[in-house]
Amino acid sequence: MQPITIDASRAKPETYRALRDQLAGLFDGERDGVANSANTAAALYHLLPDLNWVGFYFLHRDELVLGPFQGKVACVRIALGRGVCGTAAHRRETVIVPDVHAFPGHIACDAESRSEIVIPLIDHGRLLGVLDLDSPLHSRFDSEDGAGLEFIADLLVSSSDFRRLID
Ligand code: SME
Repeated sequence: MQPITIDASRAKPETYRALRDQLAGLFDGERDGVANSANTAAALYHLLPDLNWVGFYFLHRDELVLGPFQGKVACVRIALGRGVCGTAAHRRETVIVPDVHAFPGHIACDAESRSEIVIPLIDHGRLLGVLDLDSPLHSRFDSEDGAGLEFIADLLVSSSDFRRLID
């Protein structure tokens, strides 16, 4: 596999397109949801700047359970509607939090986190889980990150079989 380098001076949409191309190559011929979500977490964590945690929570019955991630150890179970992850899952929409300390009910896993973005994973109307990114910087994420990460989440969902991860 030929790794890409992400030039920090690139505009965000261009960065996310390059990431999507890299991930499309990694997913080619591979539909395992654990493998593909693990490689997605690693690619995002190592190629995007100013992150301290990237990972997945998958829906098991009525709660989110920790999946593949990069960063410090994290809380394992989050109820739907709780924290930023549970809120994004419940609303089925991307949630951007410029300051986690100002978000009521934020669940602090890594004390370094200052801002956060959570993208729901939806397959033909069915909630599978969420993709969560944390940053040590205030206001790290904006609508361009939201659009780029939704693009990547859609690619992951359409390229993978998550039957081993959800019930
Ligand atoms: N902060 C999240 C919990 C997950 S960690 O950030 C890894 C939340 O409030 O849902």
